[in-house]
Amino acid sequence: ENYAIRSSFFDITATASDPQEIEQRARYIEDGLLLIEAGKIVSLRPWPEAKDALPAECLILDRRGKLIVPGFIDCHIHYPQTEMVGAFGEQLLNWLENYTFPVEEQYHSAGHAAAMSAFFLQQLLSNGTTSALIFGTVHPESVEALFQAAEQRAMRIIAGKVMMDRNAPDYLLETPEQSYQQTRALIQRWHGRGRLGYALTPRFAPTSSPALLEKVTQLHQEFPDTWIHTHLAENPQEVEWVKKLFPAQANYLDVYHQYQLTGPRSVFAHCLHLEPEEWRCLHQTDSAIAFCPTSNLFLGSGLFNLQRSWQQQIKIGIGTDIGAGTTFNMLQTLGEAYKVNQLQNYKLHASEAFYHATLGGARALSLDHLIGNFMPGKEADFVVLQPTATPLQRMRWQNSRDIWEKLFVLMTLGDDRTIAETWVNGQRAWHRQGEEAAV
Ligand code: GUN
Ligand code: FE
Repeated sequence: ENYAIRSSFFDITATASDPQEIEQRARYIEDGLLLIEAGKIVSLRPWPEAKDALPAECLILDRRGKLIVPGFIDCHIHYPQTEMVGAFGEQLLNWLENYTFPVEEQYHSAGHAAAMSAFFLQQLLSNGTTSALIFGTVHPESVEALFQAAEQRAMRIIAGKVMMDRNAPDYLLETPEQSYQQTRALIQRWHGRGRLGYALTPRFAPTSSPALLEKVTQLHQEFPDTWIHTHLAENPQEVEWVKKLFPAQANYLDVYHQYQLTGPRSVFAHCLHLEPEEWRCLHQTDSAIAFCPTSNLFLGSGLFNLQRSWQQQIKIGIGTDIGAGTTFNMLQTLGEAYKVNQLQNYKLHASEAFYHATLGGARALSLDHLIGNFMPGKEADFVVLQPTATPLQRMRWQNSRDIWEKLFVLMTLGDDRTIAETWVNGQRAWHRQGEEAAV
């Protein structure tokens, strides 16, 4: 039960502690063969040496002319907000009140949650995203439906029900005890089942009472290998509000830190308005940040300081943050990340951008032993890119001189048309119309 794919390949072979190291660890094989067995990668080698050492009766799929990269990893996204992308005119707090909360209310319905889960996962796959760290709503039905849909597709997904007990409409609030019981039941049912994992998901400090945060602490002590996923320092008014709500805490992150919610399995979305002590705390606790460029621009939240995150040695992943973000597509998201950094005089090189979207994201989620590149034994999640999907893309791909220019053109001009096929766990999970070649 093995097969091989002949194409061009690009990946980053090991995690890195600075951008120069990423470039050294990048691998581009113009004519290569990826060998897959039982959903796992056996080897990636140049075609001339691979062709003489093929296993008996190995099917070879020909994808020459395409570029295959590891599946994209979205480190922060809200599946229920799929239906409200592009909500006009508000910054974070009013955006939540006017648009987000009313949409999330609908996920008490298991039927609605199931229909939207299917649509959402289809959007991920058709954009080349094979793994994600996902917010549900406060309703357990929302994540129940999402996990079922993800299990059917064999995707590596981490998700959790939102925990929130104040400062939102009554219809989205729960008690700390309800939150504890419902979350616990979901963990027992889904955490570690197949490729699925559970993230404890307090929405953010303003919607969390001290009693609710204590329940999160308690759950994380009972289930130490669950993830923690929340928002941090996204918007200046939000930061001021947290200071008022938690006057005893030194800063915003300290609210989470006091409840022991920082650590190697914690992912904090945004982190735009951090004090020096918060940067230090993220580093010391080995917590990760999800950088969400399209969301930060769309809500006018601010510019993430990526260069500083390298200086402080903090793990970074990329999040689309749908529905404050404006695209599911990781290529477009990387293009916006480049522009955010241009405004701060930092040049986001293509090697670094693709690292954050693949192996770096895996590292941020503590999944880099399983996914993120084409090393032997990794799970076979990958994307077949069509670099000549439009006339302009074709021209720029063909007149680019090396792989760095080519990748940079993909993140500048690429979009959903660039995604030809998405493979999950060694199986083709999605393909563009017209890409019907044998599987
Ligand atoms: N902060 C608290 N909740 C949310 C949310 O749903 N989206 C974003 N972007 N920020 C938040
Ligand atoms: Fe978010």
